[in-house]
Amino acid sequence: MSTARQLRLGTILHGASGNMSAWRHPAAQADASINFEFVKQTALKAEQGKLDFIFVADGLYINEKSIPHFLNRFEPLTVLSALASVTQHLGLVGTLSTSYSEPFITARQFASLDHLSNGRAGWNVVTSPLEGSAKNFSRAQHPEHALRYRIADEYLQVVKGLWDSWEDDAFIRNKASGQFFDAAKLHTLDHRGDFFQVAGPLNIGRTPQGRPIIFQAGASDDGKKLAATHADAIFTHHESLAEAQDFYRDVKSQLEVHDRRADELHIFQGVSVIVGDDADDVEQQYQTTAALVSVEDALNYLGRYFEHHDFSQYPLDEPFPELGDLGQNSFRSTTDEIKRNARVRGLTLRQVALEAASPRPRFSGTPEEVADGLQLWFDSHAADGFIIQGGTPDTFPRFVDRVVPVLQARGLFRQDYPGTTLRESLGLMLPVNQFTQ
Ligand SMILES: Cc1cc2nc3c(=O)[nH]c(=O)nc-3n(C[C@H](O)[C@H](O)[C@H](O)COP(=O)(O)O)c2cc1C
Repeated sequence: MSTARQLRLGTILHGASGNMSAWRHPAAQADASINFEFVKQTALKAEQGKLDFIFVADGLYINEKSIPHFLNRFEPLTVLSALASVTQHLGLVGTLSTSYSEPFITARQFASLDHLSNGRAGWNVVTSPLEGSAKNFSRAQHPEHALRYRIADEYLQVVKGLWDSWEDDAFIRNKASGQFFDAAKLHTLDHRGDFFQVAGPLNIGRTPQGRPIIFQAGASDDGKKLAATHADAIFTHHESLAEAQDFYRDVKSQLEVHDRRADELHIFQGVSVIVGDDADDVEQQYQTTAALVSVEDALNYLGRYFEHHDFSQYPLDEPFPELGDLGQNSFRSTTDEIKRNARVRGLTLRQVALEAASPRPRFSGTPEEVADGLQLWFDSHAADGFIIQGGTPDTFPRFVDRVVPVLQARGLFRQDYPGTTLRESLGLMLPVNQFTQ
């Protein structure tokens, strides 16, 4: 068995895949966001390709300007529970916000998913960027960025503590003696903190993975710190190799502070992909999908990142407007990048909006070229793995059929699953119960 570093792969459910208007594409399943058969086929395809996991993003606020996929989609844990019974090896990663939920319920739900799937649950911890979310949760205001991350840190301590309520062998179920559990192996958390008071114990046993896998998405300094403290994996996105390398180096170096090894946290770059026979084929696939987005739609798409800002008030073909701090309490890392990119490249509002709404997939080309791109980022420590999103509605199956075999032939990606749990797929150690160390 080779001990060489292995590439990890996941895929993200994002409606029809491609861009916000891809549901109109001739090859698209127009109701993909709410069609379980489509979701199931995507998951089975991912499993056929031996991918590590399927990833479900989420949000808690919509309005009429939200993109079609956000208007009518499945709640992550519900759809992942349904997928648990039709898949065997695929990791099931769902997004749930620490700003708008309770740790006890969250711990219980993900523990249930881990039991239901025999050890394949993953939780993508987010702090919710959208200010409007407050209006759906009886809150006067959306907590500001730093506060959201303080809440998230304590929230994760509570959830991890609850997941250790029971030792692995606490439930004896001895019919003859009548002993159901061993009281010495039951631990009560009794957490009292700044934001949460949670007694415990949790009403579900320790899970097949010890605890579900923790993902974190959020790339600000506070986000990176949260990940270095708590997460097993990060979902992030960078435009250039150099930026991705900086991020990778920064996060990995922060692990030392927490006495963690570099290979205890996997960094996944979310990448959009188009696979074609040659450059013309790829270009045609991109143009067919990009042409579905109108400028009005693109302005709405851009506005969502900036607290649903109305960009239609600015001239389209003049330099991208000066926005001051707008976006700081929302998608901070993303809005900082959009502003910087517009400034550095001297882009107009029209260009920024269309590029945001239908970005040209960075990893495009023949199967070999796509594999070359992924390999370069992997070998140059810009990523430990990738979350693949189809650049057109029919890309993902083509990625599995044509790119995965190239990665396998190069010895970068597995030929088969190493076990049955997501933790085994990711090569992560079983966590020690905090009450027994
Ligand atoms: C690649 C990526 C994916 C994200 N996915 C989600 C998501 O599915 N749902 C959500 O509410 N927030 C998501 N976020 C937002 C973050 O959780 C966070 O609230 C926001 O980005 C602000 O934090 P940051 O400044 O640390 O990036 C994502 C962020 C990134 C960078």
